[in-house]
Parts: sequence; structure tokens; C-alpha cells
Amino acid sequence: MSTGSCPIDHAALGAAAPDSEGTGAASCPVSANAAAFDPFGDAYQADPPASLRWSRDEEPVFYSPSLGYWVVTRYDDVKAVFRDNITFSPSIALEKITPVSEEATATLAKYDYGMNRTLVNEDEPEHMPRRRVLMEPFTPEQLAHHEPMVRRLTREYVDRFVDSGKADLVDEMLWEVPLTVALHFLGVPEEDMATLRKFSIAHTVNTWGRPSPEEQVTVAENVGKFWQYAGTVLDKLRKDPSGHGWMPFSIRAQREHPDIITDSYLHSIMMAGIVAAHETTANAAANAIKLLLENRSVWEEICADPGLIPNAVEECLRHSGSVAAWRRLVTKDTTVGGVPIPKGAKLLIVNSSANRDERHFDNADDVDIRRDNATDHLTFGYGSHQCMGKNLARMELQVFLEELTRRLPHMELVPDQKFTYVPNTSFRGPEHLWVQWDPSANPERTDPSILATRLQLRIGEPSKRAISRPVTVRSIERAADDVVEVTLESATGAPLPAWSPGAHIDLELGELSRQYSLCGDPDDRATYRIAVLRDPDSRGGSAYVHEELRPGSTLAMRGPRNHFRLDPSARHYVFVAGGIGITPIVAMADRVKAAGGSYELHYCGRSTTAMALLDRVRRDHGDRLHLHSTADGTRLDVAALLAEPAEGTQIYACGPERLLTALADATAHWPDDALHVEHFTTTQRVLDPSVEHGFDVELADSGLTVHVGADQTVLAALRAANIDIPSDCEEGLCGTCEAPVLDGEVDHRDVVLTKPERAANTKMMTCCSRACGSKLTLAL
Ligand code: HEM
Ligand code: FES
Repeated sequence: MSTGSCPIDHAALGAAAPDSEGTGAASCPVSANAAAFDPFGDAYQADPPASLRWSRDEEPVFYSPSLGYWVVTRYDDVKAVFRDNITFSPSIALEKITPVSEEATATLAKYDYGMNRTLVNEDEPEHMPRRRVLMEPFTPEQLAHHEPMVRRLTREYVDRFVDSGKADLVDEMLWEVPLTVALHFLGVPEEDMATLRKFSIAHTVNTWGRPSPEEQVTVAENVGKFWQYAGTVLDKLRKDPSGHGWMPFSIRAQREHPDIITDSYLHSIMMAGIVAAHETTANAAANAIKLLLENRSVWEEICADPGLIPNAVEECLRHSGSVAAWRRLVTKDTTVGGVPIPKGAKLLIVNSSANRDERHFDNADDVDIRRDNATDHLTFGYGSHQCMGKNLARMELQVFLEELTRRLPHMELVPDQKFTYVPNTSFRGPEHLWVQWDPSANPERTDPSILATRLQLRIGEPSKRAISRPVTVRSIERAADDVVEVTLESATGAPLPAWSPGAHIDLELGELSRQYSLCGDPDDRATYRIAVLRDPDSRGGSAYVHEELRPGSTLAMRGPRNHFRLDPSARHYVFVAGGIGITPIVAMADRVKAAGGSYELHYCGRSTTAMALLDRVRRDHGDRLHLHSTADGTRLDVAALLAEPAEGTQIYACGPERLLTALADATAHWPDDALHVEHFTTTQRVLDPSVEHGFDVELADSGLTVHVGADQTVLAALRAANIDIPSDCEEGLCGTCEAPVLDGEVDHRDVVLTKPERAANTKMMTCCSRACGSKLTLAL
């Protein structure tokens, strides 16, 4: 398994490289933790992300001598590797992690085993044309046809054990239902289930595990039989490929594209497709149910409100996904997270660790089914190879949770059971999941009508709009002329999520959704505070807060989310707040003060009576505070304040557009990343077709071209073409609808991207930005 020799160029690193004792003097830069890393050891097997916390914190990219792989553990680095499938080839994704013994190879040869590249491990330029040709059965309309089958199967399996009081959910449902669904999806006849189950397990160990030489031969026997079985079924289907399913579709596609869909590909995908669709989903379901039952209050919440199930599925996939790590081969000398990696190196990209990276997910170890960015998880990979079956898997998980929460809400884990996992680096789920309940308390015994209810399934990722949590208004107090300070508390009594200065929440106010920066104490998990100015031009949001809200009112809240993060490394901070823009700024100033940092706070307003939170700001920041009131003739001279660029100084500002534009002008000669701003409003609201022009958007991954009309946003045009893009504010404020740009000049109209980001022209906000010319190419 080990490469035998250390791949690190010690001479190039010189004495600066740490050795295993961290002295920096000796030769080998592999740290003690890296040397001890063992993905087959108990710690990784029990909880991969927890076992790699040290790496995320201290050494996010490291070489593992025992594995012969570089291991990547932070969110941004894992995503960057997934994103670039040219530098980081997927060709080794299914390679055996333990080299095969001669005897096992001979056994496989006996069965003419010829597993070839499929999709997941195919390089460009072969991969993308194949993916595009084979995409259709995965569209939402096609997947919708499978829903009745998934539901029928799930109900049948639950019927079998619902009155027994105890079940191993893996053996009695979660293994077989996804297998049958996979077979249906592929269009394979529904036979030989027990044999397939054996084949499937054998295949996992063969690819990702560390079997002993003797085990290897047994495993090879099963894999060989699996291969032959796949061939037999394929021959059967070839005789009549008119049926439904991905395989008949692929056989038909072969007629039109024989060079893209080859014979060897068809045989390989027949076998690999079963594994891809089956085990991943079975494991994901077992992980999800285990996690929810371990977090009883969350389980009870979804029992009480099944509308939360799509969010719960996503959070479970993030927290305890079924693909723990994936692999890539480095095709040229490069860097990952700043660490030089040579051509030919192999990477273990631990997506389960990325999914628990605090740098991307606040309170990453908590199970929060209202987490705003759960869908950012990398359990399905990312980029051009992202899982094609993700929405089928999501559908299955939703149906499982829906049926189980409705019929067995009182189910609990059998206490003290020891969970075991098939030892391997990548696929992860408990082998058994024992649950128990009192059958006499089954709700269907007293109310059989519950059997007839069903949720409207959502195919695709959950809508961000659906991810809200109820909050209650504790108090509303006057904070200045036309400003009220609102204190919110959790309506369920559960602690509110932690947040960091600069974060905002979205409140549903009647028909409207509005964003407000948090200005309270981030350590207070019981309440949130916001300050709301009554805007005379209000589209209804601030008027609603001032007129309708009362202590005790309940509101739906989304977030918190932070697009205005404080960089902790600055030497000095200049905070500038205009009017109600004080809200995020005061939280930032509090944080810097508490950390003993150097800062100054400029607070501008019409008059001191109109300036919210003034008493608090004076009390807490008196000696650093510079008040600028128009009424008192002490307006801020922005140009004078920022005349001299100061190295290590960061400017954070929030306020009206006029102030922010003045700051942008005054810092034109400062380093590009010195000024950070949070806007109240966007300048663009309505599209006027008499001044706009229509253009085409080409989607590189899916091969589609979508026309965007002069009166339409890119987001609306993509949605109309069934391309699922999350969105939130839909006015260029929040950054949710970002899409990567490959070609064409963007007419940026958002207030999210920085100056250098706009100049780079590699991303755009699809809800508002447009094309300068007649075409844009997006990496979607
Ligand atoms: C690819 C995970 C279910 C079909 C992948 C990849 C991952 C993954 C990590 C590689 C992504 C990359 O390299 O960026 C999962 C998980 C599932 C699941 C966690 C269940 C929870 C399914 C299902 C199907 C499926 C149900 C089929 C019906 C595929 C295919 C690819 C793939 C065809 C290759 C796509 C390509 O390379 O272009 N999956 N998968 N998966 N998955 Fe899934
Ligand atoms: Fe908020 Fe586009 S949806 S920036």
C-alpha cells in the first residue's frame, strides 16, 4: 500500500519543513499525526470527520505514508479539487485501494472480468459527451415517474415489520428497497436479489477495502460472478431495449452514438450502476435514520411537521453522508490549499470532513435541519462529475423518512447496540440498525386514515425558502427616531444558531422577506437583536415591523448567514456606519474590542436623535468613537479619512449607497481587498425591456443553450429550462444564486462580488447580472 519512498522533495523544502517532531530541522516533513493516519483504523471507521478534526485545524493537506495518498480535509480545498477534473483526474476513483493479489487477478480473469471506465472515473474529453447523452432519465419529470414505485416498495416493507415491535432496518428494509429501486431505475428484471446483495457487498470490499489475500480470492469470485450476471442481463435487454430504465435508454442511445456509448461501457455501467445507485442510498438512509434517532428532538420535530423532511434529508447527507471520501489523480505539478503536490500523486479528498468544516458550516457538528447552507455539502461530489442520481437518492430518503415518521414516530434505537461498518475508505453506513417500539401504540391502529396521507414530494434539493425556523418577538423598543430594536427568541425553546459579526437573518413579514443584520451578542443563543428603520419608501417590510409586530408575534426566520465576515488578521480596523448601517458594524466593533484589537468607529447620521443604538455605542466604544452628525455640522470627510493607504488596515462599512460609493472612490488607491461593504439596498430592481437586450446562455455541463429574454433574468430563464439554481433575495444582495462563468463578459449588477471578483469575470449572480454581449457560457 505504501509507495515505499516518500514523494516529498525534501531538498526543495529545506530546513523550513517540519519533521515528525515538528522541530523543522530533520529531513521528513510528514507530521506525527499524518504518519499515524489510518483510514482503516477504528477512529476513521467510527467517525471519519471527527477523526480528521486535527487535520482541518492544523494540517489540512497532508501526505499519508501508510496509504500512499495525499489527504485533503477542508471544505474549500476539497471543493477546489472536485471543481477541476483536468488537473485532478477522476480516473482512480474506482481503483482498488489495496493492490490485487496474483491469485485474485487470476480468479477475475476466469470470469473475463473487464470492468472499464464508466462515467465517474472517465476523463475528458470522453466523459462529458457521455454524461450529456445519458442525462435524460435523471431529469425531474422522468424521476417523477419512479415515485409511486418507491412509495409502494417502502410501504410494503414497513407493512412487514410494523406490528413486530423490533426490526433491523438495514436488513429488513434499507438494503433491499434501494436495490430494487436501482434495478427498476436501470430497467433490470427484478430477480436474484439475495445474490445481488452478496455481489454488491463483495464489490465494495473489492474496491475500497483492505481484504486479506485469502479474502481477496473469495471477493474476486463474487465480483467475477457479479460481472457475468451483469453481462447476462445486458444481453437480455439488448434483445428488447424498448422498455423503461436507464439501461434500455443507454442501449438505444448507443445506436445513435456508437462512438460515445461503447459495448465495454455498457457492460461496465450495468454493474457499476447498480453499486452507484444502491449502496450509496442504502447507507445514506441508515445513516440518516440513526442520526435523527440519536437526536431525538429533531426526530420529533419532523414527526410533528413532515414539511421539514426535505431539509432533514439534506442535513443528514451533510452531517453523516454515505460517501466519506473520494479519489483523484494529480495530472500536473500543482498546489492544493497552498501545499505543493507533484504530478502523479494520488489524493484522498475527504468530503465527509469538508462537510463538517467550521470554516464553511457554523456549528458543523450540530444537526440543524434549518441550516441555511446544508445543500452546499459535498456528499454528491461537485462539478462535472457530480452525482447524476442525487435526486433519485433524495426522493428515496424523503419517502423513507415520511413513511417511518408517520407510521412509527415512537420508534427508538435499541440501546447499547454496537454499530459496525464494512471497513473501507469511501462508502459508509452501519451494517445493522436495530430499532424498537411499542406496536400497541402504532398510530395507524387508532387512526387508519394516516395511511392514506402523503406529502407532495419535491424532486431536487430543498427550496431555501422552506428552510425557516419560528421565532417569537420578545420585545420591541424605540431605539431612535423612526427606529425600533426588536428582540427575537426561539419559538420552540431550542437554542438559536450561533452567528458571527456581520451576519444577517431573513424575516418573513407578511408576504415579504427582508434581511436584517444581527446587532446583539453572538454568545447569546437565547435571543437575537435587530434594529429596523422605518423607511418612508418601504415596500412593506419596515412598515410591517413598525405597525404589525407585537411582543408575542411569531415569525418565520431564515439564516443566519454571513456575507460580510470580519477578517481576524487585520492590524487595524476602520469601521464606518451610516444610519441604520450601525447594526452589523457595532457587532464587529464589539468583537474587535473584546479581542483587544486596534480599531476606530465612525458613525454618521442626520442627527443624534436619529442614530440608533447611540447610547450603547457611546458606552462601549466611547474612546474609539467618532460621531458625524449632519445637523451638528460634523459630517465625515471620507476622502480625508482615507487619504493615506495604511498597510494591514481593513475598512468595513455599511450604510446608504451614497456613503458606500464615496468610500469606494476614496479607497481607489488602496489595495483591492481593503474595503468591505454591506449594502442596504440594490440600485437595480425592475427590468425595462426597452433598455435591456436578450442573449443566450450556454451551459457547458448539460450542453443546453437557454435564451434569456430582455425582460427576464438569467435565473428565471434557467428555472424555466428546469435547471435548479438556489436563490434567495433575488435582488443581487445575498450571493445565493451564484453561477460560475466560463466565457462571455458579464454585466454585473449585484452588490455581492468584490471589484477583483468582477474583473476576474469567473462568476455571476444569475438573479440580476446579465451579458454585455450576445452570449455567456456558464459551468452548469
Ligand atoms: C457519481 C455519491 C446515489 C449515479 C457520484 C459521486 C459521488 C456520488 C460522490 C462522484 C462525484 C464526483 O466525482 O464529483 C452518491 C451518494 C448517493 C448516490 C452519496 C446516495 C445518497 C446515486 C444514485 C445513482 C447514482 C441513486 C443512480 C441512479 C451516479 C452516477 C455518477 C455518480 C452515474 C457519475 C457521474 C459522472 O461522473 O458524471 N455519486 N451517489 N448515484 N453517481 Fe451517485
Ligand atoms: Fe441573492 Fe441572487 S438570489 S444574489
